Amino acid sequence: MELQDKTILLGVCGGVAAYKAAALLRDMRRAGARVRVVMTEAATRFITPLTLQALSGEAVYTGLWDERIANGMPHIELSRGIDAVLVVAATADFLARMATGRAEDLLSTIALARKTPLFVAPAMNRQMWEHPATRRNVATLLGDGVCFFGPASGVQACGDEGEGRMLEPEEILEALIAALTPRRLAGKKVLLTAGPTFEAIDPVRGLTNLSSGRMGYALARAAMQAGAEVSLVSGPVELAAPYGVRVSRVRSALEMREAVLQEATTADLFIAVAAVADYRAEEVATQKHKKENGRPPEIRLIANPDILAEVAALPRPPFCVGFAAESENLETFAEEKRKRKKIPLIVGNLIQEGFGGKTNRVILFDEEGSHPLPPGEKQAIAHKLIEHIAHLLEKTYARAG
Ligand code: C5P
Repeated sequence: MELQDKTILLGVCGGVAAYKAAALLRDMRRAGARVRVVMTEAATRFITPLTLQALSGEAVYTGLWDERIANGMPHIELSRGIDAVLVVAATADFLARMATGRAEDLLSTIALARKTPLFVAPAMNRQMWEHPATRRNVATLLGDGVCFFGPASGVQACGDEGEGRMLEPEEILEALIAALTPRRLAGKKVLLTAGPTFEAIDPVRGLTNLSSGRMGYALARAAMQAGAEVSLVSGPVELAAPYGVRVSRVRSALEMREAVLQEATTADLFIAVAAVADYRAEEVATQKHKKENGRPPEIRLIANPDILAEVAALPRPPFCVGFAAESENLETFAEEKRKRKKIPLIVGNLIQEGFGGKTNRVILFDEEGSHPLPPGEKQAIAHKLIEHIAHLLEKTYARAG
């Protein structure tokens, strides 16, 4: 639960995209946040306060003169005890009002009275977003420390196509989590591998494994949220690219190796999560193997290069982290693998407990010994792992002076 113990004031403005506030609010609650909702009068024409009240489980406020707040000062009352203000479907008018410090409704008054960060997800027609007046207002707000989530490009409700479309709710949630996560990897470049590899035997068949890619994708996401520039080299999986992460899709171990080596020399951290096939066919048949002659084909296998060991052996290697998925003797095998590949940290897990699934149980092995992490969802484990890695990195840099 990445927003556990966080209270967010969600402001909704009067644009068509206001309807997306409902899905966003639901996702924020699922991520553990308490959400207080404030709507502009115009927003209530696009989505009802009752909908957002039901989803937040709290009263929704729309006016400066709300009598439900005992001290008669809802802007002060609502802007205290929160971790951030997030304004969605932010209109050109709302940006203009904020840029000039106007405070004629509850939401803009809170934007002035708050003591916490302000995040804004704009939504407007392309021409309005590009208008010099809006450009000026955005520049002013950036100068005031306001953080913008989007907008994105794409087809708009008005039929135009271009920049101004609000980010999707899940993208806004990602950006919010990232903005509230301590930036322990700020300025660092992180390279990861994830998923299985597929080693072709003939044009339609191949060797692969059941790795889902989930652990690697979760780690890429957690590294991005910790402030890193993240590049993910992914084997064939069905997962969508995590927000803010550059994904290169590859198929075989050799392709993965090439993509990794292109970036490894400039990376600060390399996390090898992929379940790389140990072997590939020495020769890939150009035509489909036939069974007519009754004899099974003979396929000679040769070993694939060990990408992680190769990166760890570079003259100035990034900090390397490996994974050891074992079916038995986890401690012995993982520690042996860490020493053989000459890497500072290996993450061990029993395949019965993590491989291919949504949850995992891992033990970390580094120079200081073993550290079990509490079992849980892969995303939660990814965050804990990134914290541990950031700590080890800080120690390594301190040692190197
Ligand atoms: O040697 P083994 O496959 O058990 O080691 C697992 C670790 O090494 C994982 O971190 C995996 O991503 C990495 N690896 C690799 N290239 C290979 C085999 C494994 O990078 N060919």
